[in-house]
Amino acid sequence: MRDVKLLDVFTHPIAQKYLNRSGLAHAIAVAYHSFHLAIEYNIDPDIAAKAGLLHDMGHFTWYRNGKWDYDLYKQNDIHPIKGAERAHKLLIRLGENPIKAKTISLAILFHTDSFLPSNDIIRTPLQQVVKWADEKDEEEGGKHHYRKIDFIRAKESIMNLDELIDEEQRKRLSS
Ligand SMILES: [Fe+2]
Repeated sequence: MRDVKLLDVFTHPIAQKYLNRSGLAHAIAVAYHSFHLAIEYNIDPDIAAKAGLLHDMGHFTWYRNGKWDYDLYKQNDIHPIKGAERAHKLLIRLGENPIKAKTISLAILFHTDSFLPSNDIIRTPLQQVVKWADEKDEEEGGKHHYRKIDFIRAKESIMNLDELIDEEQRKRLSS
């Protein structure tokens, strides 16, 4: 039914590299929030969960003198642009349907206003859902990027979410 599962995405070395950089626990929490919101708003839960999982994969580490520099980050950050591009490349490489890959990539591009000159863009329901999902998991001072989860538990959570998506898709097909 699906060309690519969340587990295929999650276990790819490129995803591992960037998801660990911006916080694996946060990525998984946003994937779950996106899934639940997608059901509430009648959006494809597979696309929403993938966008949620990969939404922060464009982060760069803005360090100065060995310390995280928030001002440098605020000034120079383009993580939604880089994330949209990285996610698209990864999904196409894994064999994702190109229309889905584009939709996921755009949801990543618009998941925040933080890098935009103004905050007046009109989002599709999917783009809005991923933005809300990210905001739901945000902690003050960017702490959500530092919450830890070990690989085994992370993998189990991803496999569980894959099952929930398959179940939801089966439900939709039979109704
Ligand atoms: Fe985020």
